[in-house]
Amino acid sequence: MTNNDELITQVEDIGWEKRLAQRTRSMKPSFIREILKFTARPEIISFAGGLPAPELFPIREFGEACKEVLRTHGEEALQYGPTEGYQPLKQFIAEMLSKYGILVETDNIIMTNGSQQALDLIGKLFINPGDCMITSAPTYLGALQAWESYEARFCPISVDGGGIIIDDLPAILESDHEHKLIYVLPNFHNPAGTTMPLERRERLVEIAREHDLVIIEDDPYGELRYEGEYITPIFRLAPERTIYLSTFSKTLTPGIRLAYVVSPKTIITRFIQAKQGADLHTGTFVQMVVNDICQRGFLRQHVKRLRGVYSQRRDMMMDAIAEHWPQECTYTRPKGGLFLWAQAPEQIKTREFIDKALEMNVAFVPGFAFYPGGEGGDHAMRLNFSYANEELINEGIYRLGMAMKKELS
Ligand SMILES: Cc1ncc(COP(=O)(O)O)c(C=O)c1O
Repeated sequence: MTNNDELITQVEDIGWEKRLAQRTRSMKPSFIREILKFTARPEIISFAGGLPAPELFPIREFGEACKEVLRTHGEEALQYGPTEGYQPLKQFIAEMLSKYGILVETDNIIMTNGSQQALDLIGKLFINPGDCMITSAPTYLGALQAWESYEARFCPISVDGGGIIIDDLPAILESDHEHKLIYVLPNFHNPAGTTMPLERRERLVEIAREHDLVIIEDDPYGELRYEGEYITPIFRLAPERTIYLSTFSKTLTPGIRLAYVVSPKTIITRFIQAKQGADLHTGTFVQMVVNDICQRGFLRQHVKRLRGVYSQRRDMMMDAIAEHWPQECTYTRPKGGLFLWAQAPEQIKTREFIDKALEMNVAFVPGFAFYPGGEGGDHAMRLNFSYANEELINEGIYRLGMAMKKELS
């Protein structure tokens, strides 16, 4: 037994902070991770994280696939593997993408530990301190967090119902900064819930070619479409200058940390080098297990099931907002994905209102967290509708409505 006096938490601080690299100063904790600490409490109804419904996780299928992989390919599965990823799984991904017009070979794909790692590797490969990244405002906060640590500057571009306002892009590009990259979320934007129509995608590609700009197309939710037609990916329109990211986090499960990058081969070679320094490769076993699951045709059928459940939860959330919230509130009607982006009445600042919500055991993410430098989204909130069931969604939205009405009165 350790005596309390001997616990290593008690040791003297030798001044760690001053020893850290300069760039570490721009690292910040993620606001969502902070909120997720509260949401671990069972009494909290959480609309905060982008968490899939845990009761739909394919636990049995994973169990069977694990056994099968160990039985048939045990030695390979438990060995180191190639940095670029497990070839049969990459083959499956190439075939899956071809249905959406992304026609690539396995050499155009690298597997990563989540798309979050891909975002970090993009930072490692492309960002010099002070480089300007064009992102929507709001945007995925994990990208902001990844690139802040490489000392990126952010050039925000506003969003309307069709995603980034593309007509604003030329003016940004003609400003005095040098721009290398634009980061876009064309399908069911996180957090804004918007989808970029084909004309905007085409216009983006036109402008990118004119200004020699690289496009990062982050597409974790493309498969989770609840209505409307699939829209051509940007990669299909401009394969020479697009880096496409997608993940198994939302279609299978996030705990496996499995995602992929698709890009021209030259840049895949660079991703391989960057990833070698980070973690050598993504787990062989997990890739083989997911490959086994996918080869059985399970993924397509599972995604179909997710679409059914999530679209009902989305509808429930929208109905509950219409019924229980003050009339001035507005919200997006996402055609897919996991999030609604709502605007509270002007008197309510969501950065402060989150404390009131947590007192009522409901969590959401305040809008400011999705803006570079936290500047914007004062009245906005991101609401996830995949994690809680319909009953809890109704109850949580009701409580938020009550809390808002109380603030207003
Ligand atoms: C837009 C976007 N990109 C990347 C990620 C990270 O996904 P992963 O779990 O694959 O790291 C997420 C997760 O929520 C996301 O919403």
